[in-house]
Amino acid sequence: MIKIYAPASIGNVGVGFDILGAALIPISGDLLGDFVTVKLSKKFNLINKGLFSNKLPQNIEKNIVWKCWVKFCNVIKKNIPVSILLEKNMPIGSGLGSSACSVVATLVAMNELCNKPLNSKELLFLMGEIEGEISGSIHYDNVAPSYLGGLQLILEDSETISQTIPNFKNWFWIIAWPGIKVPTSKAREILPKKYKKEICIKNSRYLAGFIHASYSQQPYLAARLMQDFIAEPYRIKLLPDFLKAKENIKKIGAISCGISGSGPTIFSISDNIHTAQKISSWLTKNYLQNETGFVHICFLDSKGARKIG
Ligand code: HSE
Repeated sequence: MIKIYAPASIGNVGVGFDILGAALIPISGDLLGDFVTVKLSKKFNLINKGLFSNKLPQNIEKNIVWKCWVKFCNVIKKNIPVSILLEKNMPIGSGLGSSACSVVATLVAMNELCNKPLNSKELLFLMGEIEGEISGSIHYDNVAPSYLGGLQLILEDSETISQTIPNFKNWFWIIAWPGIKVPTSKAREILPKKYKKEICIKNSRYLAGFIHASYSQQPYLAARLMQDFIAEPYRIKLLPDFLKAKENIKKIGAISCGISGSGPTIFSISDNIHTAQKISSWLTKNYLQNETGFVHICFLDSKGARKIG
């Protein structure tokens, strides 16, 4: 029997649309992500548990975990009958890489159970392919951090899909999910098909600057450059009063604030715990729309997907 945990993540990280992703771990020490347990069985069987299991499709063949199992068996060209327990703790359509958590945990668990027939590049490639089927187009900025941990730079060149880049150890990442759903496919559909040359240049400058500031460890330069000209202007309308939240969070002292992945979760950054706590209280009072919403103060999770027990 193999049990795997895969952490939640922030796609885009503001400045890197589809190119940057960060894995999260609450500073409380609690885990924020999905768990998948697999064991060999006579035939395929799936049990859903966890806080958000009631939001999963009734039809097993529509469940991401089933899709992962089918794809994995196809790729290794062998049918492996398994019994799977999915602990679905991440809200679907939250912008925290919920589908990536399930995809990563399932594929890592299957690969471990079968004594690693796929290497990490092949596994990540498969994760991206499945994520693409779910959201409409392939993007690695949730699956890569959830699988590999830390802050990931998506390269997608002939040899490497993603690599870890340095982050700032004293940054607190405050995330707030308001308790409502925004499907990634919908948030991708509303983006323009083409962008002006000025926007492309500005985006390249900010992203290159952010990577430079990360390597040269200039936290304030990095935070100032975490701006999104590609998705945020078009996605604001999908979030509950995002601009008001951003303005207030900045006033409290956040050094950066943006949309997590395709939203509606927002993230903000502070380099001291007192400001992080103030931001967390403000978001809890003002950004959450119902009792299912949550706020967490997090660090980046350097481990990524891992075996439990
Ligand atoms: N890069 C993706 C997007 C992340 O913004 O659509 C989805 O969580």
